[in-house]
Amino acid sequence: MYDLLLRDATIVQSTGRLVADIALEDGKIAYVGGSPGGKAKEEVSAIGHFVMPGVIDGHVHFRDPGLTHKEDWSTGSRAAVRMGVTTVLDMPNTVPPTVDAKTAKAKLAIAAERSVANYGIWIGATADNAKAINKLWDDGVICGTKLFLAHTTGTLGLDDDAVHKLFLDSKGLIGVHAEDQRLLDKHHKAHAKEPRPEHNDVRPPEAAAEAVSRLVRLVRETKRRVHICHLSTANELTILEPLFGDLPITTEVTPHHLFLSVETWQGDKNLIKVNPPIRPELDRRALWTAVKRGRLNTFGSDHAPHTLEEKAADYWEAPAGMPGVETLFPLLMNAVKHGRMGLERLVEMCCEQPAAIFALEGKGRIQVGADADLILFKEGESTKLKKSELETKAGWSPFEGKEIGAPPVRVIVNGHTVARNGTLMDDLPKGQAVTYKR
Ligand code: NCD
Ligand code: ZN
Ligand code: ZN
Ligand code: ZN
Repeated sequence: MYDLLLRDATIVQSTGRLVADIALEDGKIAYVGGSPGGKAKEEVSAIGHFVMPGVIDGHVHFRDPGLTHKEDWSTGSRAAVRMGVTTVLDMPNTVPPTVDAKTAKAKLAIAAERSVANYGIWIGATADNAKAINKLWDDGVICGTKLFLAHTTGTLGLDDDAVHKLFLDSKGLIGVHAEDQRLLDKHHKAHAKEPRPEHNDVRPPEAAAEAVSRLVRLVRETKRRVHICHLSTANELTILEPLFGDLPITTEVTPHHLFLSVETWQGDKNLIKVNPPIRPELDRRALWTAVKRGRLNTFGSDHAPHTLEEKAADYWEAPAGMPGVETLFPLLMNAVKHGRMGLERLVEMCCEQPAAIFALEGKGRIQVGADADLILFKEGESTKLKKSELETKAGWSPFEGKEIGAPPVRVIVNGHTVARNGTLMDDLPKGQAVTYKR
């Protein structure tokens, strides 16, 4: 007997849509097609609804262990699944940082205990942990290595020699925060006496472009596979455009760089202080053009929660980053509503490409045998984001009061319905660690 049968659902894939029934059993997709024989414990008519795989967010900072006043695996994952993100990959700049077998396993144990989303982790690159990285990669413990080319939140910045050595000595996917530390230092110094400089002047667009150029050279030399996080400028796109598909480089873009700009932000500037910075409209539009043309691979939230008290400090003291895992899907749905992209692109960049880039077993596609991580949703409905509805411990969003797409009608994780219309169910089953096929 099936656990759940979704009848007449319009399944969205990057290649198009089809109407079919989907049956779930024991946490897996058991059937996709015309009416299946056999009964189900629960049957839902999905007429007029779309179904897509759960969103895979390859870039969250759930702050656990060590910074749990900002977020923890419970609150972060609840925020995620409420709005359709069913799998998250957590970044290593926790306390202690995730940089070896001990800290990786400790973090996975916390996630196993607290996460209601499916989860994986990145390991942070240090000057001398290539050996540990390689073992964790071979053992399928990590989704990849996170390299901070510049100092941002945490202590994981790396100098040139160490970066080169990492590219030569380690294996697996390298995810990169790409800003050039030398250019950052120069501009930091130039603005150091100003009490409230523009963040975009202190961490200028050239720093991102310079770091991307350097990555291209490193990839040419070493043939390593690189995933560049949070592209934010037109110039990065210009550098990467002629290389698209030729080098093993994939990219991520965040909602905050797609929906916010320095010209249009009206609130407290510290709230949108983030690395790399929110850019001018020109860059924002270039990012959307790239999304439209299929030149960017993934959406990732860079969910980087800090408390409002921390954000209330002066410019220099206020931490960079903002919550985003809970607004990723509804913001993108609103963009679909307004014709900025089609549902096919959304599914490609939220599900199919992340599953392929991170080699996630059973994720990213609706097919028999895949994990039953699904979103049932309507298109064309919007609502206003209310602070009181947020599950993130940070308790705020730069998109408060803004129009967002309606929450998913139903979010299903491992076959269990975990949220309906933006409301979490009472008893949420634990998420599972992702596995990698590589
Ligand atoms: C991130 C954080 O706070 O952990 N901050 C940010 O501004 N994006 C770190 C990072 O991803 O750079
Ligand atoms: Zn970053
Ligand atoms: Zn400057
Ligand atoms: Zn980040």
